[in-house]
Amino acid sequence: MLTNINPTETEAWKKLQEHFYATKSFAMKDYFSTDANRANRFSIQWKDFYVDYSKNRISPKTMELLLELANEVHLKENIEKYFDGEIINETEGRAVLHTALRAKETSEVFVNGQNVIPEIYKVKQKIKEFSESVISGTKTGHTGKAFTDIVNIGIGGSDLGPVMVTEALQYYKNHLNVHFVSNVDGDHVQEIIKNLNPETTLFVIVSKSFTTQETLTNALTIRKWFLTHASEKAIEQHFVAVSTNLEKINEFGIASKNVFPMRDWVGGRFSLWSAVGLSISLSVGYDNFEKLNAGAHAMDTHFRTTSFDQNIPVVLALLSVWYNNFYGAESEAIIPYTQYLHQFAAYLQQGIMESNGKSVDRGGNRVNYQTGTLIWGEPGTNSQHAFFQLIHQGTKLIPADFIGYVESLHGNNEHHDKLMANFFAQTEALLHGKTEAEVVAELSAKGMGASQMEKLLPFKIFEGNKPTNTILVDKLTPESLGALIALYEHKIFVQGVIWNIFSYDQWGVELGKQLATKILTDIQSAEIAEHDASTTNLLKHFKKSKK
Ligand code: F6P
Repeated sequence: MLTNINPTETEAWKKLQEHFYATKSFAMKDYFSTDANRANRFSIQWKDFYVDYSKNRISPKTMELLLELANEVHLKENIEKYFDGEIINETEGRAVLHTALRAKETSEVFVNGQNVIPEIYKVKQKIKEFSESVISGTKTGHTGKAFTDIVNIGIGGSDLGPVMVTEALQYYKNHLNVHFVSNVDGDHVQEIIKNLNPETTLFVIVSKSFTTQETLTNALTIRKWFLTHASEKAIEQHFVAVSTNLEKINEFGIASKNVFPMRDWVGGRFSLWSAVGLSISLSVGYDNFEKLNAGAHAMDTHFRTTSFDQNIPVVLALLSVWYNNFYGAESEAIIPYTQYLHQFAAYLQQGIMESNGKSVDRGGNRVNYQTGTLIWGEPGTNSQHAFFQLIHQGTKLIPADFIGYVESLHGNNEHHDKLMANFFAQTEALLHGKTEAEVVAELSAKGMGASQMEKLLPFKIFEGNKPTNTILVDKLTPESLGALIALYEHKIFVQGVIWNIFSYDQWGVELGKQLATKILTDIQSAEIAEHDASTTNLLKHFKKSKK
């Protein structure tokens, strides 16, 4: 069991509150001008990662108190419980062991007295052999043709991880076209299948529970479409499944040799390292899938063994708590300066918001402080031309993570230098802003008259003092991507420990699912059951207008 400590009752929290009032009007640029060592003091070099967190509203005292908070909530002890397979997802009675999926084959991790590593490696071997046979063309479709297309059918964690990683590792991709069907919107599935050749397409149904409405509906639609082109017998060669629910897979008619099992101690939003990553392995090859896992394992080791002041996930989690709970910041932006990571913020939205969007603490009481942050973002430089205005001059405080790479993959240095110039320029601009004197000097140099200048001045001033973290990595490789994802996974864990919430359940998504089942009956039958007046009216309007 994780500890149960209300963070606001710790000594560190009280000190942080006082410290916040005493320092909240300080400007970051003043911290820089009075501390020549600030950039070095507040940066961490780990393998090919260089993390600069000096552009934050912190002093050494702030970090000291935040680290004190981590110690007071027994973070170290809780990390060990997480890695050791304790039942830390208490409301579902499960361990949380995505870290075991990337552990070395020689390691041992016990769940209910059983070492889970041999089974993990058995499934890995199956993923490897299957991926290699599909990629090489040894495994074929029912007419003997090699596969050309893969369709991953899943939603939430059974979609977002694989889709984000296959996009991110596009550079490392082989000849197979990988598609993703997730939404129960029939137009989504139709748009995907309309261009597929049933003879050369492999379908991967991914659902941890194998009861998810969207996935089963899409899988059945695809199966029906497939059977208009092939016989029932051909299903065996074209459909495989990833799940914990072997009974339901069987009912669906998937041959047991085509099942890639996973365990309930893998959370959906942390499952890409398991058989859920089959589409990743098919897309970039098993070796790259394993490198991704190895990168995550390296970050696991860093997180588990490094002192908190040099520990990247811990430091980033503490900074996020500082803004969320003391500055009242409601959201965080994730801005990768690579188009390959264009799905990264969407992926983290599930990871972070489904995990830490909780308002009841580990003792079952309503929390009296803020928890999970809103996550959003898009790649730079596109986002600069979309929402950066609000980050620079809006009324909200939005801490942002800037993720960039020293090398570009295709080696187009002219582009890459421009991209990275923007990357560095934005965090500098967010730090410094533009003072009245600077605006006056700039406008005077342009020959602007005094009265016009006076009019324009307020609009041209940037306050600056906007916090950012810079995560600069040598190169986007499967290993560095694995480490980056694991970094955020552990940040989620640290924040969950501090906020004293259960990060690994998701009861909040159940109510909507239950109501949708009831409403489907209302839509498909003559009567509408009792609802609030607004929902009843909307349903009446929908049914009346529907052709
Ligand atoms: O959205 C709720 C959720 O349970 C997620 O946590 C999960 O990733 C998704 O649904 C899909 O679930 P499954 O893999 O069981 O189909």
